[in-house]
This record gives sequence, C-alpha cells and structure tokens, in this order.
Amino acid sequence: MKAFITTPIYYPNARPHIGSAYTTILADYLARLYRSCGYDVFFLTGMDEHGEKIQRTAEKNKLTPKAFVDEMASCFKDAWKKIGIEYDFFIRTSSEEHKKGVQNIFNILNEKGWIYKGKYEGYYCVGCERYYTENDLENGLCPYHKKPVEKRSIDAYFFRLSSFKERLLDFYDKNPSFLPKTQKEEIINRIKDLGDLCISRPKEQVYWGVELPFDNTHVSYVWVDALFNYATGIGYGRDAASFNKFWPPDIQLVGKDIVCFHTVIWPALLMAVDFPLPRRVIAHGFITVNKAKMSKSLGNVVDPLDLVEKFGSDALRYYLILKMSVTHDSDYTDESFASTYNDEIVANIGNLINRVLVLVKRSDFSGICSFSIDDELSKECEQVKVGILEAIANYSAYELLENLPKRTVALFSLINAYLSKKEPWKKEGKEKKEILANALEALLFACTMAEPILPLGMKKFRKAIGFDVKICELSPFGRNILTLNLPNLTIPKHLY
Ligand code: ME8
Ligand code: MG
Repeated sequence: MKAFITTPIYYPNARPHIGSAYTTILADYLARLYRSCGYDVFFLTGMDEHGEKIQRTAEKNKLTPKAFVDEMASCFKDAWKKIGIEYDFFIRTSSEEHKKGVQNIFNILNEKGWIYKGKYEGYYCVGCERYYTENDLENGLCPYHKKPVEKRSIDAYFFRLSSFKERLLDFYDKNPSFLPKTQKEEIINRIKDLGDLCISRPKEQVYWGVELPFDNTHVSYVWVDALFNYATGIGYGRDAASFNKFWPPDIQLVGKDIVCFHTVIWPALLMAVDFPLPRRVIAHGFITVNKAKMSKSLGNVVDPLDLVEKFGSDALRYYLILKMSVTHDSDYTDESFASTYNDEIVANIGNLINRVLVLVKRSDFSGICSFSIDDELSKECEQVKVGILEAIANYSAYELLENLPKRTVALFSLINAYLSKKEPWKKEGKEKKEILANALEALLFACTMAEPILPLGMKKFRKAIGFDVKICELSPFGRNILTLNLPNLTIPKHLY
C-alpha cells in the first residue's frame, strides 16, 4: 500500500509565509498519518524556479536567477525543517534532471501530434505568469491581482487542450472524488469552452526556463514545466523503480487559486502522454490576516518561523490543522493563535499528559495484569482509530483533514473530563489503579493518533513511557499499557 502525496511547488520570489506553510503542514500531516498506518509514503514538495517573474526578481536583487533560486532553496528547506516537515524529496525545477524530464515530455507530446505552432495574442499578467483573454479581464485588469495587464502577440507553440474536453468530463464522471468538492461545478462549466493552451514563450522574453527540445528559441510555459515536477520529483527520467512504485499521485494538495491548473490542464497533459491520472486533488481555502488579504504591500504577511520561535512548531501545526477550515477561507489573528496555544495545547493536552504521568508514577502499578475498562473512553478511542484507518484506505482526504483531527484532539478533552469525574487522587488501591490505567491507555491512543499533528510533543510522551508504536500497531484498548514498564516511567520536561 502506497501513498504519493504532493504540495504545489512554491515560487521562490518570497520566503515561506503562513499560506505556503499551511498547505505544506497539511501534506506533512497526511504523510505522517499514512506512515503511521503502515503505508509506503512518498511526500514531495519543492520550488517552482523558472519564469519571467523569478527572472525579474533576481535581476532586481542583482543576482543571476540561478544564484537567487539557490539562496531561496536553502531558505525554504530551512523553514520546512523548523516546522517539522519531513518530505521525501525536494524538487527544484531548475535542476538538470527535471529539465531533461520535461524535455522528454515535450518530445512525446510533439511526436504524438498534440503540439502545433501558431500566433498568440493575449493579455499577460506578470504576477500570475499567464495570459488572459479579453473576457477574463475585470475592467481591463487581471481578475486575480486587479493590476494592469500587457497586450502581447507572439510566435508560440500550442497544446491541443481543447481535444480533451470529452475525455476530461468522462474522467470526472467516472472518478467523482478526483475534483475538489469546493469547485466541482465551476470546473465542469469551464471545460465547456476550453481552448488550446499556449505552452511556450520566446526566449528573448524569458531566458530562464526549459528550452523546447525541438526549437531552442522557445522555452516551456512555466506551468507545463512546473506541473511535471510531480513526475520528475518521484523519479521520472531519474529513478524508474521509484516512479513505477509510486505513480500516480494519490493526494495532491493545492490552494484554491491553482485548482484549474491541477484539474484541467494537468490531467489533459497526462492523458496526452498516456500516464495514469492522479487519484484526487484537494483544494483548501485561503488564509486571511485580520480579515485582510495577506500581501507584501499591506505589510501583513505572517512569518511562520516567528510563531515557531515563540510557541514551537507543534503549536503552528496544531493551529493550522485544527483552526483553519479546509473548505473555506479562514482568518488568522495573533489572539486566536495565543489562545489556542494556551487553552488547547498547554491546558488540554500538555497539562493532562503531565498530570496522568505524575499520578501513574506515584502509584504502585505492579501486579496490574488486567483492569475493567471504561466503556465511554475505550469506545471513542477505538472508533477514532477505525475512522482513521478507514479514511486512509479510501484516501478520504477531507475526512482526514477536517473531521478526524477534531475527533482526535477531542479525546484529550474526554480524558480530562473522565479524570474530573473519577477523581483518582481521592481514591485508593485497585479503584485508583483502574482509573489511572484507563486514563493512561486512552492517552496512549490519543497521543499516538495525534502524533502526525503534534510530532514533537507526542514523541516526548512516547519516549517517557518507553513505547514505540504506530497507529496500525495499537492493540485493542486495555492491552497496550500492560506491556509498559511503568516503574521506569520518566516525566517529560517542557512538553508545551
Ligand atoms: O502557484 N492561504 O506557487 P505559489 C492559503 N508555483 N494558502 C496559500 C496562501 C494563503 N493566503 N497563499 C499561498 C504557485 N498559498 C505555483 C504552483 S504547482 C505545479 C505550481 C499556498 O508560490 C496555496 O497552496 O504562488 C497556493 O496554492 C500556493 O501557496 C501558491 O503558491
Ligand atoms: Mg501565487
């Protein structure tokens, strides 16, 4: 069983911000969840390094594009490390291997007759790195950036995208979970007047790109180059065994801004070269900051590393996974971040772990070989576990991203409520032992299942009790703690 999980590859024209951190954390959470359920996982992320915008940003910084993207690649890798992102490969589109792979694809497209030469006239938005038709514009401005566009006419190569209308509609129909549920109708409507796609740029305009193998006066349109990162990143043209093992992508996470590229252009290109198609594309909403769009010019860009420095990476991950909605736009505020940290991570989770472990350490657990199990605790723990395993097997990404994180952290509240009700500190002997055994067993479930969200803290908990277990290895409730060496328990310091 395998899971190939991807994020968009980000433009290196700015440092990672809370938006790119959000997508990457969701992907990392899924990757960890799949690993913990026993799957072979390949988690791919990286950088989209070509194109006119990068070329210009580099020039502005008085660097060659290569020097500029090298610097930014270190910056991204460093940020992901600090956030606990454990990717399997970091793809960079300016690498020789990637470029060779893309040229290979262009040759196949050309040989199969999917490419022709023509004239392109359109309205170009530098910010989007794409052309718009007159119809797309809003009051003559880019519909996304609301900025002026440039009218341009150029020699160009085209991909026969319009030939794929029927096949795309048929594919959506037969694979109802491929399209993100938030934009299904919109995408299907768009297909109806699908034109061909300009897939080259003249080199005099953009020199920083992948040269077309059959015409070196043109480079690849940056999106064709970028989309095929998902193939070269898993080994296309570099590592056939890895490619054959993991292709196609199982979950492709993107923001709502780039859904069309991933659900129309991308599958059509794959159909054209006869590659199996991805299983599903998950699109999340955008994060606003105090209800405003995040932008450099507004000066309200939230740096995820500031939050990591102040609260730790687990806190950033928890906040983004639990507090941002996948299907809608969500608002970030410093206040909601701080209160989430204090009320939920420190109070509900950190203090609970500490309290239970201290109580267990202080009481004599020797001689406990079975105990009567609390129904409410055990049922919910087992059910969350079954829910995770089921959603994993079905690649039900929304269930994994929306509902299950909430149910997982709700287990901590349930254990807190259980302790308040049972008051083990007022009890003695067998009764006390049983309450603590139930609480500890439930904590084991909760922490194991929460580890993909909170890897640092939950690992500390596991180390403290000397128990190394994955979700798929959890025994039925009541059997796990019997294998623990409780007298040797250590209390983790500085959990949260
Ligand atoms: O589009 N809220 O790169 P990009 C949530 N290189 N997510 C956000 C966000 C926000 N405010 N802002 C950005 C590109 N994102 C292309 C992708 S893939 C073959 C090529 C996230 O740097 C979200 O995932 O503009 C969005 O789709 C992505 O960053 C865009 O990153
Ligand atoms: Mg963008």
